[in-house]
Amino acid sequence: MPTVIYRTAACEETALDLKAGTNVMEGAVTHGIDGIVGECGGALMCATCHVYLSEADFARLPARSEVEEEMLDSAAAERRATSRLSCQIKMTDELDGLVVEIPDSQY
Ligand code: FES
Repeated sequence: MPTVIYRTAACEETALDLKAGTNVMEGAVTHGIDGIVGECGGALMCATCHVYLSEADFARLPARSEVEEEMLDSAAAERRATSRLSCQIKMTDELDGLVVEIPDSQY
């Protein structure tokens, strides 16, 4: 199972092994990771699953959809070049070791 590492704004890290096909928001909510809310359940309607990636990890992912682009503009925390909505990151074996940084607020 691929591992994803959740890093809080205070640099605390939690590593989770997620079944391939699980998205990063679902993994966080299921395992009680603070800071990823996932209010809309992954329907691209809330942006409370906002995360930051390193440039290297960002380049490993498929491009954002148009709707994800729009939703990121309404995210509570500052949008950065490597911002993603974690409900749109589906884990695969190729993404093993992905690190997502959680903003200090989703509201
Ligand atoms: Fe709502 Fe990701 S969970 S946009």
